[in-house]
Amino acid sequence: MNVTLRGRTEHFRTVAFDALNNSVRLIEQRLLPHEFQIVSTPDYRATAAAITDMVVRGAGAIGATAAYGLAQGARVFRGSDLKKFSKHVDLVFKTLADARPTAVDPVNAMIDVRRHMARGETVAEQQALALAAAEEFANEDAHHCAEIGRHGAKLIRNGMTVLTHCNAGWLAFVDVGSATAPLYAAQAQGKKFHVFCDETRPRSQGATLTAWELAQQKVSHQIIADNAAGHLMQRGEIDLVIVGSDRVLGRTGEVANKIGTYTKAVLAARHKIPFYAAIPCSTIDWNLKRGRAIPIEERHESEVLGAWGVTQTGQREYIRVANPTSGARNPGFDVTPAELITGIITPAGIFKPRTLWQNRHRLGYKI
Ligand code: MRU
Repeated sequence: MNVTLRGRTEHFRTVAFDALNNSVRLIEQRLLPHEFQIVSTPDYRATAAAITDMVVRGAGAIGATAAYGLAQGARVFRGSDLKKFSKHVDLVFKTLADARPTAVDPVNAMIDVRRHMARGETVAEQQALALAAAEEFANEDAHHCAEIGRHGAKLIRNGMTVLTHCNAGWLAFVDVGSATAPLYAAQAQGKKFHVFCDETRPRSQGATLTAWELAQQKVSHQIIADNAAGHLMQRGEIDLVIVGSDRVLGRTGEVANKIGTYTKAVLAARHKIPFYAAIPCSTIDWNLKRGRAIPIEERHESEVLGAWGVTQTGQREYIRVANPTSGARNPGFDVTPAELITGIITPAGIFKPRTLWQNRHRLGYKI
Protein backbone atom coordinates (compact mmCIF):
# COMPACT_ATOMS: atom_id res chain seq x y z
CA MET A 1 0.00 0.00 0.00
CA ASN A 2 1.04 3.61 -0.29
CA VAL A 3 2.76 5.30 2.60
CA THR A 4 3.06 9.07 2.77
CA LEU A 5 5.97 10.32 4.84
CA ARG A 6 6.98 13.99 4.98
CA GLY A 7 4.82 14.70 1.92
CA ARG A 8 6.30 11.88 -0.24
CA THR A 9 4.15 8.91 -1.21
CA GLU A 10 5.75 5.55 -1.91
CA HIS A 11 4.43 2.01 -2.32
CA PHE A 12 5.66 -0.52 0.22
CA ARG A 13 5.16 -4.19 0.85
CA THR A 14 5.30 -5.35 4.46
CA VAL A 15 7.73 -8.16 3.59
CA ALA A 16 10.20 -8.41 0.69
CA PHE A 17 13.37 -10.28 -0.20
CA ASP A 18 16.77 -8.90 -1.14
CA ALA A 19 18.24 -11.69 -3.28
CA LEU A 20 21.62 -9.99 -3.66
CA ASN A 21 22.23 -9.91 0.09
CA ASN A 22 20.10 -12.98 0.88
CA SER A 23 18.15 -11.00 3.47
CA VAL A 24 14.48 -10.50 4.31
CA ARG A 25 13.34 -6.88 4.37
CA LEU A 26 10.65 -5.97 6.87
CA ILE A 27 8.80 -2.92 8.08
CA GLU A 28 9.80 -2.61 11.78
CA GLN A 29 6.24 -2.71 13.12
CA ARG A 30 7.15 -2.20 16.78
CA LEU A 31 8.10 1.39 15.98
CA LEU A 32 4.86 2.30 14.23
CA PRO A 33 3.06 4.68 14.20
CA HIS A 34 5.85 6.87 15.58
CA GLU A 35 8.63 5.88 13.21
CA PHE A 36 8.74 4.17 9.80
CA GLN A 37 11.81 2.03 9.37
CA ILE A 38 12.79 -0.89 7.10
CA VAL A 39 15.05 -3.52 8.64
CA SER A 40 16.86 -6.52 7.12
CA THR A 41 17.39 -9.92 8.68
CA PRO A 42 20.79 -11.32 7.62
CA ASP A 43 20.05 -15.03 8.17
CA TYR A 44 17.16 -17.40 8.81
CA ARG A 45 17.69 -17.40 12.58
CA ALA A 46 17.38 -13.61 12.63
CA THR A 47 14.27 -13.94 10.44
CA ALA A 48 12.74 -16.36 12.96
CA ALA A 49 13.66 -13.97 15.80
CA ALA A 50 11.95 -11.10 13.94
CA ILE A 51 8.76 -13.20 13.91
CA THR A 52 9.06 -14.13 17.60
CA ASP A 53 9.84 -10.56 18.67
CA MET A 54 7.05 -9.17 16.48
CA VAL A 55 9.17 -6.93 14.28
CA VAL A 56 6.80 -8.49 11.74
CA ARG A 57 3.42 -9.81 12.89
CA GLY A 58 0.03 -10.75 11.48
CA ALA A 59 -0.67 -14.19 10.05
CA GLY A 60 -0.15 -13.43 6.34
CA ALA A 61 2.96 -11.33 6.93
CA ILE A 62 4.64 -13.96 9.10
CA GLY A 63 3.61 -16.57 6.49
CA ALA A 64 5.47 -14.70 3.75
CA THR A 65 8.38 -14.00 6.13
CA ALA A 66 8.68 -17.72 6.91
CA ALA A 67 8.53 -18.59 3.19
CA TYR A 68 11.35 -16.13 2.46
CA GLY A 69 13.19 -17.32 5.59
CA LEU A 70 13.09 -20.90 4.32
CA ALA A 71 14.51 -19.81 0.95
CA GLN A 72 17.09 -17.68 2.77
CA GLY A 73 18.17 -20.66 4.89
CA ALA A 74 18.20 -23.03 1.90
CA ARG A 75 20.36 -20.65 -0.14
CA VAL A 76 23.26 -20.63 2.36
CA PHE A 77 23.80 -24.39 2.09
CA ARG A 78 27.08 -25.27 0.38
CA GLY A 79 27.59 -28.64 -1.28
CA SER A 80 25.72 -30.97 -3.58
CA ASP A 81 24.59 -33.75 -1.22
CA LEU A 82 20.78 -33.72 -1.43
CA LYS A 83 20.34 -35.75 1.78
CA LYS A 84 22.45 -33.31 3.82
CA PHE A 85 20.66 -30.41 2.14
CA SER A 86 17.27 -31.85 3.06
CA LYS A 87 18.35 -32.23 6.73
CA HIS A 88 19.52 -28.63 6.75
CA VAL A 89 16.20 -27.46 5.29
CA ASP A 90 14.34 -29.47 7.97
CA LEU A 91 16.19 -27.49 10.63
CA VAL A 92 15.43 -24.16 8.94
CA PHE A 93 11.76 -25.17 8.62
CA LYS A 94 11.52 -26.10 12.32
CA THR A 95 13.24 -22.92 13.51
CA LEU A 96 10.80 -20.75 11.54
CA ALA A 97 7.73 -22.86 12.39
CA ASP A 98 8.52 -22.59 16.11
CA ALA A 99 8.84 -18.81 16.01
CA ARG A 100 5.12 -18.28 16.80
CA PRO A 101 2.62 -21.08 17.37
CA THR A 102 -0.95 -19.92 16.66
CA ALA A 103 -0.97 -18.75 13.04
CA VAL A 104 -0.97 -21.62 10.54
CA ASP A 105 0.14 -19.46 7.59
CA PRO A 106 3.91 -19.87 8.20
CA VAL A 107 3.62 -23.67 8.18
CA ASN A 108 1.29 -23.69 5.15
CA ALA A 109 3.62 -21.29 3.33
CA MET A 110 6.72 -23.39 4.03
CA ILE A 111 4.99 -26.65 3.07
CA ASP A 112 4.18 -24.94 -0.21
CA VAL A 113 7.79 -23.85 -0.72
CA ARG A 114 9.05 -27.38 0.01
CA ARG A 115 6.52 -28.85 -2.42
CA HIS A 116 7.98 -26.65 -5.16
CA MET A 117 11.57 -27.43 -4.11
CA ALA A 118 10.93 -31.16 -4.51
CA ARG A 119 10.73 -30.65 -8.28
CA GLY A 120 14.45 -29.76 -8.39
CA GLU A 121 17.00 -32.49 -9.02
CA THR A 122 20.06 -30.73 -7.61
CA VAL A 123 20.74 -28.56 -4.57
CA ALA A 124 21.20 -25.52 -6.82
CA GLU A 125 17.88 -26.18 -8.56
CA GLN A 126 16.07 -26.59 -5.26
CA GLN A 127 17.60 -23.39 -3.89
CA ALA A 128 16.38 -21.46 -6.94
CA LEU A 129 12.94 -23.07 -6.70
CA ALA A 130 12.72 -22.14 -3.00
CA LEU A 131 13.11 -18.46 -3.70
CA ALA A 132 10.76 -18.56 -6.69
CA ALA A 133 8.12 -20.31 -4.55
CA ALA A 134 8.52 -17.81 -1.70
CA GLU A 135 8.05 -14.95 -4.17
CA GLU A 136 4.99 -16.71 -5.54
CA PHE A 137 3.55 -17.11 -2.04
CA ALA A 138 4.06 -13.40 -1.34
CA ASN A 139 2.45 -12.39 -4.65
CA GLU A 140 -0.46 -14.75 -4.05
CA ASP A 141 -0.97 -13.33 -0.57
CA ALA A 142 -1.32 -9.83 -2.05
CA HIS A 143 -3.60 -11.14 -4.81
CA HIS A 144 -5.77 -13.07 -2.33
CA CYS A 145 -6.21 -9.95 -0.23
CA ALA A 146 -7.30 -7.94 -3.27
CA GLU A 147 -9.88 -10.66 -4.06
CA ILE A 148 -11.12 -10.58 -0.44
CA GLY A 149 -11.64 -6.86 -0.99
CA ARG A 150 -13.65 -7.47 -4.15
CA HIS A 151 -16.00 -9.92 -2.41
CA GLY A 152 -16.16 -8.12 0.93
CA ALA A 153 -16.87 -4.64 -0.45
CA LYS A 154 -20.42 -5.83 -1.22
CA LEU A 155 -21.08 -5.98 2.53
CA ILE A 156 -20.35 -2.31 3.02
CA ARG A 157 -23.08 0.20 2.38
CA ASN A 158 -23.01 3.98 2.49
CA GLY A 159 -23.29 5.36 6.00
CA MET A 160 -22.24 2.15 7.77
CA THR A 161 -20.02 1.92 10.81
CA VAL A 162 -17.67 -1.07 10.80
CA LEU A 163 -15.84 -2.48 13.82
CA THR A 164 -12.49 -4.20 13.42
CA HIS A 165 -10.18 -5.84 15.95
CA CYS A 166 -6.38 -5.91 16.18
CA ASN A 167 -4.60 -5.33 12.86
CA ALA A 168 -5.68 -7.42 9.91
CA GLY A 169 -4.58 -4.70 7.52
CA TRP A 170 -1.80 -4.60 4.95
CA LEU A 171 0.79 -4.63 7.75
CA ALA A 172 -0.51 -8.07 8.71
CA PHE A 173 -0.04 -9.32 5.12
CA VAL A 174 2.26 -8.62 2.22
CA ASP A 175 -0.12 -5.95 0.94
CA VAL A 176 -3.78 -4.76 1.12
CA GLY A 177 -4.84 -6.75 4.24
CA SER A 178 -7.76 -9.08 4.90
CA ALA A 179 -10.26 -7.33 7.20
CA THR A 180 -9.27 -3.96 5.73
CA ALA A 181 -9.43 -5.12 2.09
CA PRO A 182 -13.25 -4.67 1.86
CA LEU A 183 -12.84 -1.21 3.39
CA TYR A 184 -10.24 -0.14 0.84
CA ALA A 185 -12.27 -1.62 -2.02
CA ALA A 186 -15.47 0.11 -0.80
CA GLN A 187 -13.57 3.38 -0.48
CA ALA A 188 -12.32 3.00 -4.06
CA GLN A 189 -15.97 2.54 -5.11
CA GLY A 190 -16.77 5.91 -3.51
CA LYS A 191 -18.71 4.53 -0.53
CA LYS A 192 -18.74 6.59 2.67
CA PHE A 193 -18.42 4.72 5.95
CA HIS A 194 -16.76 4.97 9.35
CA VAL A 195 -14.50 2.48 11.13
CA PHE A 196 -14.10 1.83 14.84
CA CYS A 197 -10.70 0.29 15.59
CA ASP A 198 -10.63 -1.72 18.80
CA GLU A 199 -7.57 -0.55 20.70
CA THR A 200 -6.64 -4.27 21.19
CA ARG A 201 -4.80 -4.46 24.47
CA PRO A 202 -2.32 -5.60 25.51
CA ARG A 203 -0.16 -4.73 22.48
CA SER A 204 -2.59 -2.17 21.03
CA GLN A 205 -2.27 -3.20 17.37
CA GLY A 206 -5.63 -1.53 16.66
CA ALA A 207 -4.66 1.80 18.19
CA THR A 208 -1.18 1.82 16.68
CA LEU A 209 -1.21 -0.13 13.40
CA THR A 210 -4.79 -0.22 12.10
CA ALA A 211 -5.36 3.43 13.00
CA TRP A 212 -2.08 4.39 11.26
CA GLU A 213 -3.02 2.42 8.14
CA LEU A 214 -6.51 3.91 7.97
CA ALA A 215 -5.11 7.42 8.52
CA GLN A 216 -2.59 6.80 5.72
CA GLN A 217 -5.42 5.71 3.41
CA LYS A 218 -7.68 8.56 4.57
CA VAL A 219 -10.43 6.24 5.82
CA SER A 220 -12.71 7.87 8.42
CA HIS A 221 -12.04 6.14 11.73
CA GLN A 222 -11.82 6.38 15.51
CA ILE A 223 -10.06 4.22 18.08
CA ILE A 224 -12.25 2.78 20.80
CA ALA A 225 -11.26 1.16 24.09
CA ASP A 226 -11.72 -2.61 23.93
CA ASN A 227 -14.52 -2.40 26.46
CA ALA A 228 -16.55 0.17 24.49
CA ALA A 229 -17.85 -2.08 21.70
CA GLY A 230 -20.77 -3.56 23.70
CA HIS A 231 -22.08 -0.13 24.60
CA LEU A 232 -21.81 1.10 21.01
CA MET A 233 -23.54 -2.03 19.70
CA GLN A 234 -26.36 -1.61 22.20
CA ARG A 235 -26.88 1.98 20.99
CA GLY A 236 -27.02 0.88 17.34
CA GLU A 237 -23.71 2.51 16.47
CA ILE A 238 -22.05 -0.55 14.90
CA ASP A 239 -23.51 -2.16 11.75
CA LEU A 240 -20.89 -4.73 10.80
CA VAL A 241 -17.84 -6.45 12.30
CA ILE A 242 -14.92 -7.66 10.15
CA VAL A 243 -11.87 -9.32 11.73
CA GLY A 244 -8.91 -11.31 10.43
CA SER A 245 -7.76 -14.71 11.61
CA ASP A 246 -4.58 -16.63 12.38
CA ARG A 247 -6.13 -20.04 11.81
CA VAL A 248 -9.54 -21.10 10.56
CA LEU A 249 -10.40 -24.76 10.90
CA GLY A 250 -11.55 -26.00 7.51
CA ARG A 251 -13.43 -28.89 9.13
CA THR A 252 -15.40 -26.91 11.74
CA GLY A 253 -15.33 -23.24 10.73
CA GLU A 254 -13.83 -22.17 14.08
CA VAL A 255 -11.79 -18.97 13.93
CA ALA A 256 -8.66 -18.28 16.01
CA ASN A 257 -7.81 -14.60 16.18
CA LYS A 258 -6.39 -11.96 18.49
CA ILE A 259 -7.57 -12.18 22.08
CA GLY A 260 -10.89 -10.36 22.45
CA THR A 261 -12.30 -11.49 19.10
CA TYR A 262 -14.53 -14.09 20.77
CA THR A 263 -15.91 -11.43 23.14
CA LYS A 264 -16.83 -9.24 20.16
CA ALA A 265 -18.47 -12.16 18.36
CA VAL A 266 -20.63 -12.92 21.41
CA LEU A 267 -21.65 -9.27 21.62
CA ALA A 268 -22.36 -9.07 17.90
CA ALA A 269 -24.59 -12.18 18.09
CA ARG A 270 -26.46 -10.70 21.07
CA HIS A 271 -27.14 -7.54 19.03
CA LYS A 272 -27.77 -9.34 15.71
CA ILE A 273 -24.86 -7.57 14.04
CA PRO A 274 -23.22 -9.49 11.15
CA PHE A 275 -19.78 -10.78 12.11
CA TYR A 276 -17.30 -11.76 9.38
CA ALA A 277 -13.74 -13.10 9.34
CA ALA A 278 -11.65 -12.30 6.25
CA ILE A 279 -8.85 -14.73 5.30
CA PRO A 280 -6.59 -15.80 2.45
CA CYS A 281 -6.47 -19.56 1.76
CA SER A 282 -3.16 -19.92 3.63
CA THR A 283 -5.01 -19.29 6.91
CA ILE A 284 -7.08 -22.45 6.61
CA ASP A 285 -5.99 -25.47 8.65
CA TRP A 286 -7.51 -28.54 6.97
CA ASN A 287 -6.12 -30.98 9.53
CA LEU A 288 -7.17 -30.00 13.05
CA LYS A 289 -10.54 -31.35 14.07
CA ARG A 290 -11.42 -29.01 16.94
CA GLY A 291 -10.67 -25.48 18.07
CA ARG A 292 -9.47 -26.68 21.47
CA ALA A 293 -6.48 -28.25 19.69
CA ILE A 294 -5.26 -24.89 18.32
CA PRO A 295 -2.03 -23.89 20.12
CA ILE A 296 -2.70 -20.58 21.82
CA GLU A 297 0.35 -18.41 22.30
CA GLU A 298 0.93 -17.26 25.88
CA ARG A 299 2.96 -14.06 25.90
CA HIS A 300 5.01 -12.30 28.57
CA GLU A 301 3.09 -10.75 31.45
CA SER A 302 4.86 -7.40 31.00
CA GLU A 303 2.56 -6.71 28.01
CA VAL A 304 -0.47 -6.71 30.32
CA LEU A 305 1.21 -4.98 33.26
CA GLY A 306 2.34 -1.96 31.26
CA ALA A 307 2.46 -0.36 27.84
CA TRP A 308 4.95 0.91 25.26
CA GLY A 309 4.64 4.46 23.99
CA VAL A 310 6.51 7.56 22.99
CA THR A 311 7.34 10.36 25.41
CA GLN A 312 6.91 14.05 24.58
CA THR A 313 10.59 14.16 23.62
CA GLY A 314 10.14 11.28 21.15
CA GLN A 315 11.72 8.52 23.25
CA ARG A 316 10.14 5.07 23.01
CA GLU A 317 9.50 3.87 26.57
CA TYR A 318 7.82 1.12 28.51
CA ILE A 319 5.63 2.37 31.38
CA ARG A 320 4.50 0.09 34.20
CA VAL A 321 0.78 0.69 34.77
CA ALA A 322 -0.32 -2.19 37.02
CA ASN A 323 0.14 -2.70 40.74
CA PRO A 324 3.87 -3.47 41.21
CA THR A 325 3.35 -6.69 43.17
CA SER A 326 0.75 -8.25 40.82
CA GLY A 327 1.41 -10.74 38.05
CA ALA A 328 -0.64 -11.26 34.87
CA ARG A 329 -1.93 -13.91 32.47
CA ASN A 330 -1.50 -13.11 28.78
CA PRO A 331 -3.10 -15.45 26.22
CA GLY A 332 -2.56 -13.89 22.78
CA PHE A 333 -5.47 -15.43 20.89
CA ASP A 334 -8.93 -16.93 21.34
CA VAL A 335 -11.18 -19.19 19.30
CA THR A 336 -14.64 -18.15 18.07
CA PRO A 337 -17.10 -20.97 17.34
CA ALA A 338 -18.72 -21.26 13.91
CA GLU A 339 -22.24 -20.46 15.14
CA LEU A 340 -21.18 -16.90 16.04
CA ILE A 341 -19.77 -16.18 12.58
CA THR A 342 -21.99 -14.92 9.78
CA GLY A 343 -19.48 -15.65 7.04
CA ILE A 344 -15.86 -16.16 6.08
CA ILE A 345 -14.70 -13.76 3.36
CA THR A 346 -12.14 -15.57 1.20
CA PRO A 347 -10.53 -14.95 -2.20
CA ALA A 348 -13.03 -17.47 -3.63
CA GLY A 349 -16.12 -15.76 -2.20
CA ILE A 350 -18.02 -15.58 1.08
CA PHE A 351 -18.83 -18.89 2.79
CA LYS A 352 -20.78 -19.97 5.84
CA PRO A 353 -18.09 -21.21 8.26
CA ARG A 354 -19.42 -24.77 8.31
CA THR A 355 -19.34 -25.02 4.51
CA LEU A 356 -15.58 -24.56 4.13
CA TRP A 357 -14.91 -28.30 3.97
CA GLN A 358 -17.43 -28.93 1.19
CA ASN A 359 -15.84 -26.04 -0.75
CA ARG A 360 -12.27 -27.15 0.01
CA HIS A 361 -11.16 -27.58 -3.60
CA ARG A 362 -12.18 -23.98 -4.41
CA LEU A 363 -10.26 -22.91 -1.31
CA GLY A 364 -6.91 -24.40 -2.23
CA TYR A 365 -7.06 -27.74 -0.39
CA LYS A 366 -4.07 -29.65 -1.76
CA ILE A 367 -3.82 -32.92 0.13
O1 MRU B 1 -0.20 -10.90 17.57
P1 MRU B 1 -0.41 -10.39 16.18
O2 MRU B 1 -0.27 -8.91 16.07
O3 MRU B 1 0.43 -11.14 15.17
O4 MRU B 1 -1.91 -10.75 15.90
C1 MRU B 1 -2.46 -10.43 14.67
C2 MRU B 1 -3.89 -10.74 14.62
O5 MRU B 1 -4.47 -11.28 15.53
C3 MRU B 1 -4.56 -10.50 13.35
O6 MRU B 1 -5.90 -10.17 13.55
C4 MRU B 1 -4.44 -11.81 12.61
O7 MRU B 1 -3.11 -12.13 12.31
C5 MRU B 1 -5.31 -11.91 11.47
S1 MRU B 1 -4.87 -10.91 10.12
C6 MRU B 1 -3.48 -11.58 9.47
